[in-house]
Amino acid sequence: MKKLSVNNLTISFRTVTGKVHAVRDINFELEEGETLAIVGESGSGKSVTTRAIMGILAGNAIIESGNIMYEGEDLLQITEEQFHSIRGKKIGMIYQDPLSSLNPIMKIGKQITEGLLLNGDHLKNRAEKLCNNERIAYYELRHQIRQLKNKMEYDKANSAQYKKEIAQIKSKLPNAKKAMNDAKKRATAQVEAEYKLEVSKAKGELAEIRKNVEGLTKKELDAKIKAKEEAIKRLRRVTPEEAKERAIEVMREVGIPNPEQRFNQYPFQFSGGMRQRIVIAIVLTSNPDILICDEPTTALDVTIQSQILELIAKLRRERSLTVIFITHDLGVVANVADRIAVMYAGKIQEIGKVEEIFYNPKHPYTWALLGSMPDLTSRDRLLTIPGTPPDMRFPPKGDAFALRSEYAMQIDMEEQPPMFKLSDTHYAATWLLHKDGPNIQKPEIITERIERMRVMTEELHKELGKETTTNGN
Ligand SMILES: Nc1ncnc2c1ncn2[C@@H]1O[C@H](COP(=O)(O)OP(=O)(O)OP(=O)(O)O)[C@@H](O)[C@H]1O
Ligand SMILES: [Mg+2]
Repeated sequence: MKKLSVNNLTISFRTVTGKVHAVRDINFELEEGETLAIVGESGSGKSVTTRAIMGILAGNAIIESGNIMYEGEDLLQITEEQFHSIRGKKIGMIYQDPLSSLNPIMKIGKQITEGLLLNGDHLKNRAEKLCNNERIAYYELRHQIRQLKNKMEYDKANSAQYKKEIAQIKSKLPNAKKAMNDAKKRATAQVEAEYKLEVSKAKGELAEIRKNVEGLTKKELDAKIKAKEEAIKRLRRVTPEEAKERAIEVMREVGIPNPEQRFNQYPFQFSGGMRQRIVIAIVLTSNPDILICDEPTTALDVTIQSQILELIAKLRRERSLTVIFITHDLGVVANVADRIAVMYAGKIQEIGKVEEIFYNPKHPYTWALLGSMPDLTSRDRLLTIPGTPPDMRFPPKGDAFALRSEYAMQIDMEEQPPMFKLSDTHYAATWLLHKDGPNIQKPEIITERIERMRVMTEELHKELGKETTTNGN
């Protein structure tokens, strides 16, 4: 199932020296449960893309066109209220620098429980879930209207036809809205009724406890009563005690040792790797189904990096998360991603399954990235990419990488290459793939490196396999 789709997204920034064309007409989809890695050099537009999904673009951003669809809604169009229920709850983001996302003067425990308490209205959450389908149906219609209006802009000749279609869909809106509101009312009533029933049952049990005091000390009785009263409170919303229990649970899940003690400590008492784990724990408390990781390991040293990567892989498996993983290092993604989108100068230059990008890369920029990957054996870079990325106030006319590419042709300077299809999952934007283009294959040196990397990874996996069997976990 499709979880998220980004369509024709174009974003620029207003600055005093001109408009920065940060993201230029990008398209990608996320299947439920998959991990998509976005790779590219600094400034290629990776963060801007994900910040748009999270709705946290800087104030000078202009969304020139496009949409970001999630459960029938365009995340670029939703209201502040919907914003809170989707972004932040269903889509969580981990940033590059764990320090900046933690409050240095607030205890770790409080930072983890904050969100739990804030979003802890069980009745409201359950009711929202119950009427989700009707809500999606209504927003689908609104989205269709918006799309038709956009098409009409570009296709004025057929505006009469579009107007007709728009009118047709518009006529369905009142019913859809009513269906949504009715569903909301029904859901709220149902949830309230269930709640009342549960409370009266629990109160009955409390009365029983008070009656059967025989053989209990006062202390034991008080404890029993208190536990029951707490249970009744928990039926309506997350209580502070419950939030603490859940925080400790999630701290344990992300691999914090002694979470009970750690709960009362401040960020400075944690190492960089542990702070990154805390940040992940905070994001997890809202039970997101999409997790965006923007270079979550760059601030960490190599050993800690791989531990965090392992943690993300584990969470992805256990929580069936859909993941967007951003990095500038292709070497990192081989083991975490299902698919890779290679970004350069605000565009996706090549996208495909991990194997397609590693074993059959087609874009000279992908070749350059593969060539500049730190080598697993020596850890030094084999090749550096010559030159620097373009100034995005003046995006190149043709293939943005042409100026730095030894394979550039005349047409690369003049015309933007389209996305050529290589397989159902593999696309690349380079004129080399045109039927009249030269038949240039990836440099031999990359083939050798990938092969070496493959062998090393296999050996590493064997080693890890041995370790885990001997450790028994
Ligand atoms: N608020 C802003 N105002 C002006 N330009 C901006 C703004 N935010 C981002 N940009 C520009 O948009 C382009 C893309 O930036 P982005 O942060 O997405 O890069 P990135 O791929 O995440 O790079 P890195 O690997 O360094 O994090 C860059 O040219 C950047 O300078
Ligand atoms: Mg970035």
